[in-house]
Amino acid sequence: MNQHAPSQPIGIFDSGIGGLTVADAIVKHLPKENIVYFGDTAHLPYGDKSASTIQAYSVKIAHMLLQQQCKLILIACNSASAAAFELVREYIASKAIVMNVIDPVILLLRDHYPNKNIGLIGTRQTVNSNVYKKKIDDLNRGIQVTSLATNLLASAIEEFGNGKAIDGVLEEYLSHPTLKNLDALVLACTHYPIVKTKIAHYFDHSMEIIDPSDTVAKAVKAHLADANLLNVGGPGMKRFYVSDYTESFATGTKIFFDEKITLEHYPLWE
Ligand code: DGL
Repeated sequence: MNQHAPSQPIGIFDSGIGGLTVADAIVKHLPKENIVYFGDTAHLPYGDKSASTIQAYSVKIAHMLLQQQCKLILIACNSASAAAFELVREYIASKAIVMNVIDPVILLLRDHYPNKNIGLIGTRQTVNSNVYKKKIDDLNRGIQVTSLATNLLASAIEEFGNGKAIDGVLEEYLSHPTLKNLDALVLACTHYPIVKTKIAHYFDHSMEIIDPSDTVAKAVKAHLADANLLNVGGPGMKRFYVSDYTESFATGTKIFFDEKITLEHYPLWE
């Protein structure tokens, strides 16, 4: 990776604006980094799509981020991380570092949650791929994992944000018997941290809610440091692209990202 320079941007992509929860954490941990974000709003939600469709989208987006000279491409979507990480990594080869949002969480569980009862909520694609369960079982740390697909939750969060209307949707999913008697619950969709306070409240703080955003941001920092690609000189420029621009997405970004940002339309599919 030595042909890269620290000033090259970090590329981040998601099915929509959910990955902004991760982008937000990355900006906090790495304020000097230049960032290019791509939200594939034209194809949202990914959680319902087949693995091969998500793979095709992801490879094309990774190609676009490469054209933007990204030194690191982060798949900030669990559904795409589950379905397309290996393929994107193969496609990009040594042209950039490729990371997903799943592996940093697996390492966190390995180090801090041995012999615990872990629950996981995510899209149908993420849960049905079984990728978390396989990786957790491979750790051999006595971690029990139970997963529940909460498929409409990401779209409901896009629609209602953290507002009152989301309470009924959460109640519907979180009352599932699978989620009883857990030590911790992994939010395995990058949209879910938006409602993490409500989730913690629903369980009356009886279990820990694992929001992967910070863990992923720290892993990105460590990877860049290892490759001598940390940008310490600034200026921390950010571009936010979406494949389908609507006012509601533009408004929605305010819930996902502290800073005021401007979404630009990038006609990747036109
Ligand atoms: N943010 C995506 C994830 O982390 C899910 C949303 C979707 O279904 O597109 O899985």
